[in-house]
Amino acid sequence: MTKFLFIGDTHGQLDFVTAAAKRACQLNADLIQCGDWGFIWPGKSELPELSAMLVTMGVTMRFIDGNHDEHPVLRRLCNGQHDLGVEIAPRVIYQPRGSVHEDEDGTRFLFCGGAPSIDREGRVKGKSWWPEETITAAEFKQSLCATGPIHVLVTHDAPDYPPGFSAKGSLRYQALQELSMRQIDALIKMHSPLLHVHGHWHTRATTHRGTTRVEAIDCNQLDPADLDNSVLLWSRE
Ligand SMILES: [Fe+2]
Repeated sequence: MTKFLFIGDTHGQLDFVTAAAKRACQLNADLIQCGDWGFIWPGKSELPELSAMLVTMGVTMRFIDGNHDEHPVLRRLCNGQHDLGVEIAPRVIYQPRGSVHEDEDGTRFLFCGGAPSIDREGRVKGKSWWPEETITAAEFKQSLCATGPIHVLVTHDAPDYPPGFSAKGSLRYQALQELSMRQIDALIKMHSPLLHVHGHWHTRATTHRGTTRVEAIDCNQLDPADLDNSVLLWSRE
C-alpha cells in the first residue's frame, strides 16, 4: 500500500517542507498538507522553489487551502476544476474543497480546506485576508455528496475544539468557527472515514469520533526536532 506523510500548516516555510520532504523521500511516502499552505501569497510566493525542491527529492505534495491562503489565485489556477486535484506546478497538486483523489491501491481521499480567521480584524482584505476562507454551502454540499467509500478525510479545520481549546475571540468569529466545525463533523458522520487529518489549531492530538480516528497535526516548527508533532505517517494497511 502507498504510504502517506501528512503535514500540518506550513505557512509558506520552505525549510520546514524540505525537512518533511526528506522524511517522505526516506519513507517512500507521498506528502499531504492540511492547509495554511502559504506558498502563494501577495509579494512572497515561493511556488517555483517549492516545486524544484520536490522534483529533486522525487516527492509529490498534495495540499488544501486553509484560512491563511490567497484563495482567489488558487481558484484561478483550478480553472473551474472542482472534482479532482489540479497540478499547479510539477509535483505540487492543489485539492479544491470537495475534490476526491483515489490512489493506485483504491484508497480514496476527500479534501475540504477552509476555516475562519480569529485574527481577521488585524488583516487587510485582498492582501492578507480573503472572504473565501470559510467553507461555502455549495462546497460543503459537494463534500457531503462525494462518492464513497471515503477512507481518509483531509480538512483544515477540526470537527470540534481540540483538547485544551475552547471558544474565544469575537462572537462573530465564534459563530463562524462553530459553523465550520459543524460542517467538518457532518462530513465525518456522512463518510465515516478510517482517518480524519486536520491542521488549523497548531496542536497535536489524537481523538476518535465514532469509528473515525481524528488526528490534529501541529504547524511548521523552526526546530527540526519538533517535526514529529507536525507530521503523521499512514497507510491503509
Ligand atoms: Fe495556521
